[in-house]
Amino acid sequence: MSLSTAAGAQFGVQQLQDLEPSAEEFEAAVIAGLGSARKTLPCKFFYDAAGSVLFDRICKLPEYYLTRTELRILEDRAPDIAALLGPQASLIEFGAGSASKVGLILSQLDRPYSYVPVDISRKHLLAGAAGVARAFPGLRIAPVCADYTQNFALPVAASGTPGALAGFFPGSTIGNFTHAEAAVFLARTRHILRSGAVMIVGVDLRKDERVLNAAYDDAAGVTADFNLNLLRRINRELGGNFRVGQFEHSARWNETESRVEMHLVSRAAQTVRIGEAQFQFAEGESIHTENSYKYSIESFQALARDAGYEPVTCWTDERALFSVHALRVP
Ligand code: TRP
Repeated sequence: MSLSTAAGAQFGVQQLQDLEPSAEEFEAAVIAGLGSARKTLPCKFFYDAAGSVLFDRICKLPEYYLTRTELRILEDRAPDIAALLGPQASLIEFGAGSASKVGLILSQLDRPYSYVPVDISRKHLLAGAAGVARAFPGLRIAPVCADYTQNFALPVAASGTPGALAGFFPGSTIGNFTHAEAAVFLARTRHILRSGAVMIVGVDLRKDERVLNAAYDDAAGVTADFNLNLLRRINRELGGNFRVGQFEHSARWNETESRVEMHLVSRAAQTVRIGEAQFQFAEGESIHTENSYKYSIESFQALARDAGYEPVTCWTDERALFSVHALRVP
């Protein structure tokens, strides 16, 4: 790490802004979710170190078409994105993970000024930031470890950008929000960015439900392992006694809601203890762990307009599996 007296002037990875959720926050969310009539667990806690590694494996699965399709679109369209952003732009990536996509854009940008990766998993975030620093030695990188649905201060490296500030939210992570949450998230990013700023969002499209179900329930069982890791994490970090083999991963397409639902289904009637708390499960009872909403191009653009953005353009692959949207802050 390099040092400089002028804040934001140095290249390479700068000081981490650390807002990683605490164990108390995790515990409170788990107790509340398992205590409700329809049991849920919040999906943001999937991404501990083990979960982040499993997620990277999901991205390489033959059934999981999302990542490779989005990468292909970004690769094809990076020059268009660079033209939209202009010279000396700064890029804020929400949910950067291993930061494997941003290089496609950075490499096309005219003298990019800074990169702000935001992610909930500190270890993954720092490894990703280090990788980007190696590939782009002249770039200011200001990592923020945070739940990106919460407020965080924009690092000076980005607020002081001479060019445009732009947002990047790939991976169809927006699909993990309800429509209302997605609108709130988009409206909030609009305030972090500036008038005229561009937001690039990856959005998975509606398609044959067999393709969707396979993407979320792969033959090798990696997605099942990823889902079940949440129970292992509760055991590890909160002193839970989940018998992980007594739960089963299930992915179901819900046509009315236009979403894939991820559940962990109890294989038997059982009691689970987490610290002092106890939870009863009936046989077949499920914990709803995540939704992955699928949009049409038009339905996503309508959502973006409701959140105060102007859709600029949208790129898709030749099979119309996935879409990348450019939105502008008016
Ligand atoms: N954003 C990813 C998606 O909706 C997250 C994801 C992929 C996921 N597979 C999963 C979350 C399985 C939970 C379980 O595609």
